[in-house]
This record gives sequence, C-alpha cells and structure tokens, in this order.
Amino acid sequence: MNLSRLQARRLAAAARRAAKSSYAPYSKFRVGAAVLTASGKIFAGGNVENASYGLSNCAERTAVFKAVTEGHRELVAVAVYTPTRKPTLPCGACRQVIHEFGPNAVVLCVCDSSDQLKTTLDQLLPGAFGPTDLR
Ligand code: THU
Repeated sequence: MNLSRLQARRLAAAARRAAKSSYAPYSKFRVGAAVLTASGKIFAGGNVENASYGLSNCAERTAVFKAVTEGHRELVAVAVYTPTRKPTLPCGACRQVIHEFGPNAVVLCVCDSSDQLKTTLDQLLPGAFGPTDLR
C-alpha cells in the first residue's frame, strides 16, 4: 500500500513522540516507533530495556505488540525514530516480527535531521520465513 503524505507525517510524528515513553537507562538510546494498521489506527511505543540487557525490547516490537494485543493484526506501515543524525533501519529481530503482521509494510525511518529513509519490509527481509511456511 502507498502511504499518503499526511499518513506518513502523522506516523512519523507518533514515532517521535513515542521515544519519550522509552525506558533506556543503559544505552540512553531512546527510540520510538509507530505502526499504522489496516483499520487506520496508529499504535506507538518506545524501547524498553532491562538490567539483564539481552531482554531489552526494541521500540518497533513494543508498537507492534501493542497493535496486535489490541486486536489489530494487519500492519500497513511502520515508522521508526532514532535520536541520530542519519535515519537507521529496524534490527533483524524487529524485521522478522514486523513480517508476521505486515510482510509488505512500508518502513519509514526518521531521525534528528530532515533525512528520511523509506523502504518496505519485503526489501529489508527478502525470503523471510513466515506463517505460510508452517502450512
Ligand atoms: N533499538 C530500538 O528500539 N530499535 C532499533 O531499531 C534499534 C535499536 C533499541 C534497542 C536498545 O534498547 C537500544 O536501542 C540500543 O540498541
């Protein structure tokens, strides 16, 4: 699906805002993410770290899990904000999690400069293993 400019702007703004909800006392790298569902709703969240570092949860997964646990399982777009000069792309684990609910989702990455990256999940994770492989 193609994102309208307005949808992209709203989604990016929600991702930026969500970074304020991040719990990142260890890395101090406060990330925000927002997902747009097929039903037109936006869910957003931040990364949540843990003293046992490996248990930390990225912002993207927080946002996806919020949408899914509220009953919205189809994602059309994901925006990620990182506190960097250049936009950064979701990590491998998040790509896999996004694939489950939005294999063709638009991925929009924004940061502290006006630079943006816009791509799609299938470009970021070609040949992904997914639900249909289990059938
Ligand atoms: N992080 C995210 O939340 N999303 C990304 O796309 C990259 C990394 C988080 C994980 C960890 O809490 C912190 O950023 C540093 O890696």
